[in-house]
Amino acid sequence: MAATSAVAELLPAGSHVVASRGMYGGSFRLFNRIKPVSQNIKTDFVDCSDLAAVEAAITSDTRLLWLESPTNPALQIVDIAALAELGHKHDLLVAVDNTFSTPLGQQPLSLGADIVMHSCTKWMGGHSDTLGGMLVVKDAKLADDVQLISSATGAVMSPFESYLLLRGIKTLALRLAKHEENCFAIARFLEQHPKVQEVRYPGLQSHPQHELAKRQMNNFGAVVTILLDGDEAAVESLFNKLQLFIIAEGLGGVESMIGHPPTMSHNSLLPEEREFLGIPDSMIRLSPGIENAADLIADLEQALA
Ligand SMILES: Cc1ncc(COP(=O)(O)O)c(C=O)c1O
Repeated sequence: MAATSAVAELLPAGSHVVASRGMYGGSFRLFNRIKPVSQNIKTDFVDCSDLAAVEAAITSDTRLLWLESPTNPALQIVDIAALAELGHKHDLLVAVDNTFSTPLGQQPLSLGADIVMHSCTKWMGGHSDTLGGMLVVKDAKLADDVQLISSATGAVMSPFESYLLLRGIKTLALRLAKHEENCFAIARFLEQHPKVQEVRYPGLQSHPQHELAKRQMNNFGAVVTILLDGDEAAVESLFNKLQLFIIAEGLGGVESMIGHPPTMSHNSLLPEEREFLGIPDSMIRLSPGIENAADLIADLEQALA
């Protein structure tokens, strides 16, 4: 979040931002509640799969287009190249939260973006034991500006966390390959399960932006999101019966995690804000780890039963 905040601090007070409506709830809270007060920055949250809507939202004060793809937790994918072109036509900085894809899964700078943000707390660290954020930029002047903001505001990583991150990154490729294999196996299992209403995984043909994902991403990421056919009690019962999946707000570690965004990672948002971001009460987010896929499926099968 410090990295995202640093991007906003590049902007003059009074700027306007156009942001992806499906963005992570914490980023939404930053742009919707904090930045209007601290920097007089106003943000319009737009469905960025609709290029005309994005263009219509741009005003003479707009300075930044903030994208996220795939989004947390709904896994919406947007066309980064097309949006970067549109943003640059209007002289905007184009930034992409690439957390759910990782640098191996997708390289927004090559697709035209100016700034890439990663929460390294997730797959980059990979072991759920370090917190951090990263900004990657093309332009040397932008790099200097970001570096100044980072050190001047104290948004820097401690040496120990940096060490953990460097250790984690070395196995990112191996971990991601296994995460993806497990995601496919789990998504296919859940797709045919009667208690699951909908399965979202960019690698599935049923994902609404599957073709775009194939074009834009090198792999399909490591999160599977489902809509359970049941109420909150059904979610709780499922969670209580699981033995391998850890119930957690976090994600991206070697151990499998499961979370209920409405009551966990996104519970600081008002119900109407969650509805606006497309997070229904039946939504469950799975972050399969690197365990044996058959064990994970057996765990889900017994808990759903
Ligand atoms: C897509 C995305 N961006 C940003 C963040 C914020 O990351 P951190 O918790 O490392 O500040 C998260 C955390 O869940 C996230 O999922």
